[in-house]
Amino acid sequence: MTKDPTNNPHIHRSPHNWASPEYVKRWQQRADRELGARRYRFELLADLLPFDADAPVRILDMGAGFGALSEVILERYPNAQLVCLDGSAAMLDLLKQRQVNFGNRIQRVFANFKDPEWHEKLSGLNTDNVQKFDAVISSLAMHGLRDQRAELFKQIYDIVKIGGCFINIDLTLASTEKLQKYYRQVNIARHIEHVKSVTDETLTYEQAEMDIDTPSVKKKDVGSEVAQDNHQQKWQAGDLNLDLKWLREAGFEDVDCFWKELKSAMIGGFKN
Ligand SMILES: C[S@@+](CC[C@H](N)C(=O)[O-])C[C@H]1O[C@@H](n2cnc3c(N)ncnc32)[C@H](O)[C@@H]1O
Repeated sequence: MTKDPTNNPHIHRSPHNWASPEYVKRWQQRADRELGARRYRFELLADLLPFDADAPVRILDMGAGFGALSEVILERYPNAQLVCLDGSAAMLDLLKQRQVNFGNRIQRVFANFKDPEWHEKLSGLNTDNVQKFDAVISSLAMHGLRDQRAELFKQIYDIVKIGGCFINIDLTLASTEKLQKYYRQVNIARHIEHVKSVTDETLTYEQAEMDIDTPSVKKKDVGSEVAQDNHQQKWQAGDLNLDLKWLREAGFEDVDCFWKELKSAMIGGFKN
């Protein structure tokens, strides 16, 4: 792990600095505080995987971060092997520390999926030398790719085995500009509630607004996923219908949005 693919200027256009261990640590602390809400989604994703609980499946988690989603899958599928791919060395280091109990059921791969050849980094991981997976999963990692997701979904289709699936939890745009603004108001109110419940501090509307607009989350690091969700809207978020169309065009069948809450959605499809 010498060359850091997050040096790619495309990635650094985002407000995240995944190359910074300090930033990664702060993000992880916030994510941990949101574990309840996140766990619900991860469990739902696990429920949707078309395998028996004891199936010896091989799953790729793209943008795995410190392995929060992978961890739930490994618990739910005791014979599963997870390949955790991420473009941040700091995240992969954290993943190694956090997921030590899973031993060799987790393999880490350092790669940037904006790189058209990213899947070549998966070569040699598989004993039968076929780089295919029973499922590809992802959480909060692909929104920064914008239109490049169309091509990425095709590449993902190619590495999913017949009978498998791709399921992605990510941020998405509201269907109208009016709704987008409304979601923002709702999110600000939810952020005020969240801060109150975590720190007992009552933020003004303006303070809450400032929090959710501050990319680095340093100012008010209270662990609100809502806050993160809102500042990200400034530079990204996919159109849900476009993502569903791209999934179908990639070849996936039974494509749907399995879950949605304001600007977060879980979408995917199956390879029959
Ligand atoms: C918001 S974190 C989510 C981590 C994890 N999936 C979770 O839900 O806890 C996004 C992760 O995606 C990774 N990521 C973002 N863009 C990437 C890219 N182009 N290639 C590889 N990893 C990327 C980041 O390094 C980071 O670890």
